[in-house]
Amino acid sequence: MSEAIARAHPNVALSKYWGKLPSPGNVPAVPSLSITLEGLSTVTRVRFDASRADDRVVIGGRDADAAARARVVALLDRVRLASGESRRAEVVSRNDFPTASGLASSASGFAALALAAVRAAGLDWDASRVSDLARRSSASAARSVFAGYVELPAGAPGASEASLLPARALAGVDHMPLVVLVAVATDEAKAVGSSEGMRETLERSPYAAAWLDEAPRLHARLREALAARDFRLVGELAESSALAMHASAIAAGIVYWTGATIETLATVRKLRRDHGFGAYASIDAGPHVKVLTRPADAAGVRAALEAASGVRRVIEARPGHGARLVTVEDAP
Ligand code: DP6
Repeated sequence: MSEAIARAHPNVALSKYWGKLPSPGNVPAVPSLSITLEGLSTVTRVRFDASRADDRVVIGGRDADAAARARVVALLDRVRLASGESRRAEVVSRNDFPTASGLASSASGFAALALAAVRAAGLDWDASRVSDLARRSSASAARSVFAGYVELPAGAPGASEASLLPARALAGVDHMPLVVLVAVATDEAKAVGSSEGMRETLERSPYAAAWLDEAPRLHARLREALAARDFRLVGELAESSALAMHASAIAAGIVYWTGATIETLATVRKLRRDHGFGAYASIDAGPHVKVLTRPADAAGVRAALEAASGVRRVIEARPGHGARLVTVEDAP
């Protein structure tokens, strides 16, 4: 038997990935920039075992459904092809945060799975190769392989499926101190997954072209603002990226927002306007608002979010580590 255990964290994108190139291999059409978040994690164990007749995938204590299992097996198949490993595997994974908490469990899940599978198969790949592998399953997972502030470039149109497209670390955990407060709007799982939501946006939104045009510009400005440690500009641009992404999706009928989302957005604007707090909103493929703020403002911003109508609870996270191997005591 050969096994490895890895831990990875979710991330929140400041400039959003929304849209794929038509080429195969899950290639983003726009660049994105994220913060890997400490405090919430996925731990995944992969064990190749000659006595197994088939791959087994257990997530959160239960056998995964067919769709989730197929995504995991596709990653295992890539690792088997690259390494010559022929045995089937048992994959056991658990999150220490609720799957519907609004923090993408696919990002931490596939980052941990990619690292554990690569090592269990005896491949000596660096973090870039692991990130490229994770990207093929879920592009946001490519970013969770690295710590702190991380960029995933857009793919080159026409590039072959074999070309590598990993994320890369831009700045460490301490580069610009901030806190991410997740205002959890519901405990239900999202109705439309991100892959489907972005596909429908590109196919049907009258604003798809505008989004694809604007996203790289926002991203480039965000990179510069981050390099200059300009918290306010980073926050403003992050909010613009999320709003532009959702505007394009909404025009295709893909509406992730609920009343709680709009109430929370109003609270964030009020915190800025009336109370002088540096607080900026980001929203992914769900109703939860993720609020970026400075550590010194976090307690005040948190209290206001907790009082916002429809917010069930607030989860606090900070920039954190990339995916890493852990010992057997952490095994799920
Ligand atoms: C809104 O990485 O979940 O969170 O590559 O199809 O698995 P797939 O999509 P996924 O999309 C994340 C979309 C987002 C924005 C972001 O994280 O950049």
